[in-house]
Amino acid sequence: MTLNRRTFTALTAGAAAALALPAQAATVAPEPGRRHVPHTVTFDKYSLLLDDRRLVLWSGEFHPFRLPSPSLWTDVLQKMRSNGYNAVSIYVNWSYHSCAPGQYDFTGVRNLGRFLAVAAQVGIFVTVRPGPYINAEVDAGGFPGWLTATTGTARTNNSTYLSYADEWLTAVNAIVSKHQYTDGGGTVLLYQLENEYSSHLGDGVGAAYLAHLYAKVRADGITVPLFHNDKGRNGDWIPGSFSTNGESGRYLYAFDGYPSPSSTPPDWGYFGPGGAKGGSTASPDTPGFEAEFGGGWFDPWGGAEFAGQGYAGARASRDAVYERRFYLTNLANGIKLQNVYMTFGGTSWGWLPAPVVYTSYDYGAAVDEARNQTSKLVPMKQIGLMLESVPDLAELDRAADVTASSTAIKTYHLTNPTTGAHFYFLRNDTASDQSITVPVSVSGSQVTVPASGAGIRLTGKDMKVVATGIAVGRRTLRYTTAQPMYAATIGARDVALLVGRTGDPVELSLAFAAAPTVSVLSGSATSSYDSTAGALRVNAQLSGLIRVLIAPSDGSAPLLLLLADDEESATFWKHDSFAGPVLVRGPALLRNAFVMGPVAALNGDTTAASDLEVWAPTGIRRLLWNGSAIPTGHTVSGSLSASIQLPAPAQVTLPALTNWRYAPENPESAPGFDDSAWALANKTTSFSTTPVPAGQPVLFADDYGFHYGDVWYRGSYNAQAGAQSVSLSYSSGTQGMLMAWLDGVPLGTHRQPVPTKAQDSQSTWTATATFAVPAALSGSGPHVLAVLVRPMAHSEDGGSNDAHKAARGLTAVTFTGETPAPSVTWRIQGADTAASDPLRGPLNNGGLYGERSGWHLPTFGDGAWQRMSLPSADTSQGVGWLRTTFNLAIPRGADASIGLTLTDDPARAYRVQIFLNGWNLGQYINDVGPQHTFVLPNGILRTRGRNTLALAVLRDGTTPAGPSSVSLTLLGLTAGGVPVEDLPLTATGGRRH
Ligand code: GAL
Repeated sequence: MTLNRRTFTALTAGAAAALALPAQAATVAPEPGRRHVPHTVTFDKYSLLLDDRRLVLWSGEFHPFRLPSPSLWTDVLQKMRSNGYNAVSIYVNWSYHSCAPGQYDFTGVRNLGRFLAVAAQVGIFVTVRPGPYINAEVDAGGFPGWLTATTGTARTNNSTYLSYADEWLTAVNAIVSKHQYTDGGGTVLLYQLENEYSSHLGDGVGAAYLAHLYAKVRADGITVPLFHNDKGRNGDWIPGSFSTNGESGRYLYAFDGYPSPSSTPPDWGYFGPGGAKGGSTASPDTPGFEAEFGGGWFDPWGGAEFAGQGYAGARASRDAVYERRFYLTNLANGIKLQNVYMTFGGTSWGWLPAPVVYTSYDYGAAVDEARNQTSKLVPMKQIGLMLESVPDLAELDRAADVTASSTAIKTYHLTNPTTGAHFYFLRNDTASDQSITVPVSVSGSQVTVPASGAGIRLTGKDMKVVATGIAVGRRTLRYTTAQPMYAATIGARDVALLVGRTGDPVELSLAFAAAPTVSVLSGSATSSYDSTAGALRVNAQLSGLIRVLIAPSDGSAPLLLLLADDEESATFWKHDSFAGPVLVRGPALLRNAFVMGPVAALNGDTTAASDLEVWAPTGIRRLLWNGSAIPTGHTVSGSLSASIQLPAPAQVTLPALTNWRYAPENPESAPGFDDSAWALANKTTSFSTTPVPAGQPVLFADDYGFHYGDVWYRGSYNAQAGAQSVSLSYSSGTQGMLMAWLDGVPLGTHRQPVPTKAQDSQSTWTATATFAVPAALSGSGPHVLAVLVRPMAHSEDGGSNDAHKAARGLTAVTFTGETPAPSVTWRIQGADTAASDPLRGPLNNGGLYGERSGWHLPTFGDGAWQRMSLPSADTSQGVGWLRTTFNLAIPRGADASIGLTLTDDPARAYRVQIFLNGWNLGQYINDVGPQHTFVLPNGILRTRGRNTLALAVLRDGTTPAGPSSVSLTLLGLTAGGVPVEDLPLTATGGRRH
């Protein structure tokens, strides 16, 4: 039997929709028709309870707005789910959806409902975090640009602010309320109010604000538990600290933390200092909940955070070992809801990035910006699957302290009061390997483990879990020094997968009333049976995959032990099908598994030729891989194994970028340019936090409706005589700049400095650029001063002090040598945010002439532009555009992730805005960096077809300016992937409501 990809996708999508949700035991599959059944979502001090079943939330942060291609949401969510995450946490960014008051757009790349539907289909829970304030390293922390020009302090109970916040929540909640797990509409499980609200703690304002949000969200039909994310561990906004309208037991306390990876992992729960500032101890009746815990970190312009290495530095310092050490410490501390921020960081495309970050928001996350699975997913999958298949971990109390044989090892001892299972979380805080023994409790007796061999090995700065008294399928594991990863009854046998580092000696003890038959099927292991204890002991040293088959003497179901090192464990995948769990070994990813009669249809990815071995429910005799029948044979391990390898992806060759065309820009700098349609900048008052300088009109861009990207000013004046210099004061985000011309003659460029590490959180930068007026232009008569400002982004508002309302653009202009000061008539032009491109949204464009004229769009005709070849070396100050097209023919069934790489002599002072098919995919600053490669998401990038690239280049005029080298880079390649819809090229598909 063969299935083509379309039929297969349809089948698997249907199956996925009906799959067991994460809280349900792997062997229980819901009936297809029961999807719309409501569920109760409650909690006790240990964990969430879903229909009275415990759930440890193992969550990753992913911002849909940082992946502007809805098809790829499926890809990332499947990667997360298959790698053991049972939840995704999302911010919803107000500014992304609202170009003007009263306007809310949830279409296309902003289709929140689609995201939530995909999450339900993938079978992953969702935590929704719509603010209104989110922070998140986005412009204004998520506040829309238009909010900067409104009265009332944001993040307070000011009535004007609340009316706008309500408008936003009404729009978001209309969508979220349809996808809630409580109501059977989807998998939304939790909902966050505000974010890191650490102001107005005691003055009643904060409590009134949060009470308002609580009531509003409930009134909008949000029925899942609500929570707030306390900034750090301050015990702020615990249950009871503000009014929940008489509702109790529906609000959780949560906090966040980003400890330094070089620190000792913090105890923010059972083993910590306790009290209001102890993390979860601030709220003893609700489960430990880390709404954000560092999974990486962000990098500022210039790259000071990671010494210029960019996000490779973040990934190196928060690597797989960091994850084990810090996240297992959290679990040991009773944290039962843990969200890793970020798990897929993505791209702050367009004008999304806050001043503190550049375009890439890769974050060093477990799934990289190009959607590649990194080695950081391996511990996440190991722990995530352990949490699913060892339910004892969902209810733990601190137990009597035990001491390992070496004091270099920190030991956390916990026990499940219901099942009696014990867990020993062992952490090595030294840099060298340690081998220890530890006394553990086995059926009420103390046993020092391991009984034989070289001890439990903990490699430097690493952590692992030793368990006693847990079930593996139908058997009891008395103890294991290999960390359990997965256990299930599959078909006629029990299967248990246990893991550790390569070279780790491991020991397992299993309860058997009589000596079973033990067969080592691959690798080496020894065993011995102790009839007094009724225990079979298995010892091995991890290396690749060791298989041990244990057949009980009474003829009952055999147990297959799979002992894997990390690398081998990465090739294991499990999926819950209708017919029961399916365990797969070999490929780079298993997306889903669908069982139909004797056929298991699997869908996934390979990055190289791979094995395919499947443990499947009884009766499965045939395998399909991505729709193709795979010849198989039965193995002694009880699996079906492919007799051929799954194919590697076909090679992909990317075209060189040639045939450039060029057009100079900045006509606005010419004295005769017609600016009569531009807004007059003649306001005298502003809601900005920046004071309006005495005697000057308001020049702040936001006051005229220009919230994103470049802004032009033209000041006309009649000079008396003798202007010697002009001083331009401006306010911008990080790496803001301006360029000035007088009567068309360049006066110069000014740039804000590159932040040092100490300055990397500075978000508003002010400077005054003083330019000498050339003698020839200082005479009496009419003059035109033209200024282009790149304001970068608005500050976030972490301090609830309206920092996002700090001015952007020019703030004051003064002349020397002219008395009295000339009276200047200012006109201003930028991107009219309220009338922004409905397809690409309000943050896509700024106010460059080329943008206002559609030069970035694929539909623009550049046939009259001059031909150009790179490298370019233009020394003039100003703006120029390059355009080219290229065709791609990536084979169907391949997922190629492609980036655009710009490189040049780092002394050259210029920056480039990158437009692909009209989408603003980022900003390159050649002499600042550190980013050189920009991800081009498939969907915007047409991987089978024609693409238009437009580069808007701002040249400082102080050096020759490029670009020099512009090329496509293959960032990732798999055979597999998800079907990708190309986004429309024109805005006619967009709708607003
Ligand atoms: C947290 C905040 C997030 C994000 C993160 C750093 O404190 O809640 O929104 O800013 O820090 O990436």
